[in-house]
Amino acid sequence: MTPRSFLLTEQLGDYVRASSEPPDDVVRDLLAETAELGERGEAPPTFQIPPEQGALMQLLTRALGVRRAVEIGTFTGFSALCVARGLPADGSLICLDTSAEWTAIARRYWERAGVADRIEVRLGDAHETVRALPAEPVLDLAFVDADKAGYADYVDQLHPRLRTDGLVLLDNTLRSGKVLDPQDDDARAVAELNAALAADPRWETVLLPVSDGLTFLRKR
Ligand SMILES: C[S@@+](CC[C@H](N)C(=O)[O-])C[C@H]1O[C@@H](n2cnc3c(N)ncnc32)[C@H](O)[C@@H]1O
Repeated sequence: MTPRSFLLTEQLGDYVRASSEPPDDVVRDLLAETAELGERGEAPPTFQIPPEQGALMQLLTRALGVRRAVEIGTFTGFSALCVARGLPADGSLICLDTSAEWTAIARRYWERAGVADRIEVRLGDAHETVRALPAEPVLDLAFVDADKAGYADYVDQLHPRLRTDGLVLLDNTLRSGKVLDPQDDDARAVAELNAALAADPRWETVLLPVSDGLTFLRKR
């Protein structure tokens, strides 16, 4: 099972999920296959976003009328599935990741959900693949969930590629609370970025206690 938010008790986490639209068979099977990867030690058990965050991202994508999106950090494809489901039939999502193996699992589920034709995977270091995207303000939404020390660079690279009022979502911006007293490189990088973004005039910034911390950046 996907790990629960460190901000919720187990009981409250169950309540949150029970009070949201339930996952369908495709999502249930994807969550189960990914959990098995974690149990076998083939992937970190905390990689995947929790179901309620996926539901939120699908709702946001649809409610905001997102047509063009990018994801940095796709893994087995759950967050991408949610975004793709929120897109219109002619919408597009470009997924950046280094793993052919994990994104092959993702593609099986995107096909089952009937959204594979909206998603293109670009393999390689996302710091390079994001630079290869045209530097034109065409993106409506970007979701960042990869190397935490690289978030500042991703934010800088996404800025010119996002339209005005476009949204960047940054995952894990509370680092399980470690941002209060960072003792490792990732926590330090995220804490520094959080402080910088709160004062960055390019963005309207809100960090919400969703899952492990989800920062919303609206391009001014
Ligand atoms: C936390 S997981 C993403 C989870 C995914 N969003 C989900 O909800 O299932 C992080 C992913 O980022 C990828 N990644 C890490 N560093 C990367 C980099 N420099 N370039 C591209 N992908 C990277 C990893 O391969 C991994 O699949």
